[in-house]
Amino acid sequence: MNPGLARLQAYPFERLRQLLAGATPPANLSNISLSIGEPRHEPPAFVLERLAASLHELGSYPATRGLPELRAAMAGALQRRFATSGLQLDPETMVLPVNGTREALFAFVQTVVNPRRAALVAMPNPGYQIYEGAALLAGAEPYFLNTTAAGGFVPDLDAVPAAVWRRCQLLFLCSPGNPTGKVLPLHYLRFALELADRYGFIIAADECYADLYLDETDPSPSLLQAAAQSGNCAFKRCVVFHSLSKRSSLPGLRSGLVAGDAQLIERFLLYRTYHGSAMPVPTQRASIAAWSDDRHVSANRHLYQQKFQQVLPILRSVLPLEMPDGAFYLWARVDGDDARFARALYEAAHLIVLPGSFMAREAHGENPGRGRVRISLVPDLPQCLEAAARLRQFLAT
Ligand SMILES: Cc1ncc(COP(=O)(O)O)c(C=O)c1O
Repeated sequence: MNPGLARLQAYPFERLRQLLAGATPPANLSNISLSIGEPRHEPPAFVLERLAASLHELGSYPATRGLPELRAAMAGALQRRFATSGLQLDPETMVLPVNGTREALFAFVQTVVNPRRAALVAMPNPGYQIYEGAALLAGAEPYFLNTTAAGGFVPDLDAVPAAVWRRCQLLFLCSPGNPTGKVLPLHYLRFALELADRYGFIIAADECYADLYLDETDPSPSLLQAAAQSGNCAFKRCVVFHSLSKRSSLPGLRSGLVAGDAQLIERFLLYRTYHGSAMPVPTQRASIAAWSDDRHVSANRHLYQQKFQQVLPILRSVLPLEMPDGAFYLWARVDGDDARFARALYEAAHLIVLPGSFMAREAHGENPGRGRVRISLVPDLPQCLEAAARLRQFLAT
């Protein structure tokens, strides 16, 4: 057996299920789930139509590399979104389709980690649990970079000892961050790239929330922009992950992309060919439509902006909350034990939130998720407002 399997932790939602087992919520209140990060806005009709119109193409095997038109559409979307001088992605060598970023984040680690070199994979803590599981199953040790309010919710790269960087083979960054909503600024990304060059590691930037920034005048930047600005126009050591799940509210389509360093992409393609993770052709056709259009993305983003603008004033008098930079989460500080808080809230108000400590690991003497809950603003606006009103009442009594 792969020894990493024994080290995998229960998924946060399994722990949440156990936490809430046996609790009885008020029967007169409907359940509102604010725990999972599943977008629920209406998927764009033109994408679904393209999918339906392409179903006859299920009769042939898809190529792992994807259709040339898809790679062109993906490169085009990134170039429009992150327009920067020198940022030019060759669709032939620098972009690949993936079946959602989750599988790709996992598979990329299996591709690049050399477990015989006491490998470390560094990652934000709290963070998306796949980074940790992927590192363990690749035979690497996870190295947790705590993101705390005191540190402005950015992983403190300066605090990492040189001996750790020397063992580090891969650094995960996530911007906008899940669960913090923090956007990593360009100067930070450039510094991360300097470290990558100095110590020879790769950076995997999970940018799946990149289109859900909350200030229209301040779109979140990409690691690709930081690389281009530093003169690294071949994106050496860099890969970014983007997804239609959040961008286009299409989590069920299972469609995303990876882009960056052509050498890494070439190795990743080889891995994927053996792994057997080609995207069905109808999904590719639908994805071409989605990546080629930005209007629906802006409409989708506005819906989240609206929710934050209306929910925050309801909660501010009872919770210390700031508008995040992006994504669709509130990373709220609560008094006392976050798991106990989540259970009590469920029992009193029939709301489900995710305890922060379930999303983080004990590292460097603390669990940086402790004392926080993640509130996911994925239900529709009336439900988000209803949830905020119930939460306010719960906290006020
Ligand atoms: C930070 C982060 N990365 C990646 C994913 C995976 O998204 P998908 O596989 O739908 O592209 C998620 C999903 O919630 C996420 O929160």
